[in-house]
Amino acid sequence: MSQKSFFIKTYGCQMNERDSEIIAQILSNNGYVESLEMDTADLVLLNTCSIRAKAEQKVMSQLGMLRKNKKTNPGMQICVAGCVAQQEGRKIRQRMPHVDLIIGTQHIYAIHELLEKSKLIGPVVATNLDDKYIIPQFIPEGTDPSLPNGFRKFITIMQGCNNFCTYCVVPYTRGREVSRSVKDIVEEAQVLVDAGVTEITLLGQNVNSYARTNIVTEDGTPFTFSGLLRKVAEIEGLKRLRFTTSNPKDLTDELMQCFRDIDILCPHFHLPVQAGSDKVLKEMNRKYTIASYMALVDKLREYCPGIAITTDMIIGFPGETDEDFAGTMEILEKIRYHGSFSFKYSDRPGTRANEFENKVDEAVKSARLTQFQKRQDEICLERNSEYIGTVQEILLEGCEEGKVKGRTGSNQIVHATGTTDKKPGDFIMATITEAGQHSLRGTI
Ligand code: 5AD
Ligand code: SF4
Repeated sequence: MSQKSFFIKTYGCQMNERDSEIIAQILSNNGYVESLEMDTADLVLLNTCSIRAKAEQKVMSQLGMLRKNKKTNPGMQICVAGCVAQQEGRKIRQRMPHVDLIIGTQHIYAIHELLEKSKLIGPVVATNLDDKYIIPQFIPEGTDPSLPNGFRKFITIMQGCNNFCTYCVVPYTRGREVSRSVKDIVEEAQVLVDAGVTEITLLGQNVNSYARTNIVTEDGTPFTFSGLLRKVAEIEGLKRLRFTTSNPKDLTDELMQCFRDIDILCPHFHLPVQAGSDKVLKEMNRKYTIASYMALVDKLREYCPGIAITTDMIIGFPGETDEDFAGTMEILEKIRYHGSFSFKYSDRPGTRANEFENKVDEAVKSARLTQFQKRQDEICLERNSEYIGTVQEILLEGCEEGKVKGRTGSNQIVHATGTTDKKPGDFIMATITEAGQHSLRGTI
């Protein structure tokens, strides 16, 4: 019998990317081979994101197109995973009868059994969320560091969220917060480093509250995220450690001190502020103020001068006035972020903000977003220019004859000229000679 092929398309965040890797490994372990051709694959899996309406629309239209593929290739299995599957499972089941499996965020480890079940009984929906969910231990089968990004890996340390920011769908799509044990995480990191991985990013929707809800250590002492960082950093051979994402309300001094104490912890902090007005932050249920956020930034810069701080910003949250938006523009000037992801507020079903009445006009949101992004672009260039003349340690991502590409610890992309016998995953030193909005240039 010929081997079945699978094709995975991943939308959304890094946690979805890691989930897709896990799914791919489970399928490979069960006799499937990965294919790069969606049209001819025996199994097509969309791993989806529902953070904003646009992300969800993309999935729905892709699913619509797959209906035609299935007509010409009736043996094809179609599977929807991730956050849209979790939230809109019932709707997909009704409107998309050609979908064989709708698999929620807590069920990916059972993908093979569920696919087999759908072959026997027809479409399967597996989307219940368990408040007491435990993330199974799943060891990666090593990696090939010579592949693009093969030396750089993500480890999910927790999933779910208990914060209920009023705009956010994640507590509904990923369920209650659950952390993996320190032992499981360190074991996974060790396997990766033994296989040649030199950079690890620890992932969670809010890593600052790691261990708070469900982890008791073997000797009964409480554990914290900074404790975990220190443990992972001890792994010999690991060159860079990163993490994402943090909610400012839970950022402890102990964690900030890690940037002073842990050599391999990269000097980059993604600390989403979301809005520049205390009134809007309150409506978002963020539980911090601009003043307390600024105090965190000051402290981080004290512990780690030169740390690059980046943010997420939501533009046009319900009730956002010109004055509130002026606060958003002001925080750009005060912090001068090294980068930001900014989005127009998007109504998400099931969230509290969806029910708020004072929605901002679409055209006003667009105009504010343009203004914000234009200024952020200028600041990015100013920030990048600060690196000119400095010597930076670059972790290589790609090497060609006479030129290399890599990243600084602060996550700036660098294109450098010169020859080297180093390979992706190794460090080189480069003198920065030019700055652009999105990258730096230099010489080895
Ligand atoms: N509308 C717009 N942006 C959103 N985000 C989360 N929910 C929404 C929404 N409803 C943004 C936040 C978050 C990032 C991942 O997506 O800025 O930090
Ligand atoms: Fe998208 Fe959030 Fe789900 Fe990630 S967790 S896939 S960003 S909705």
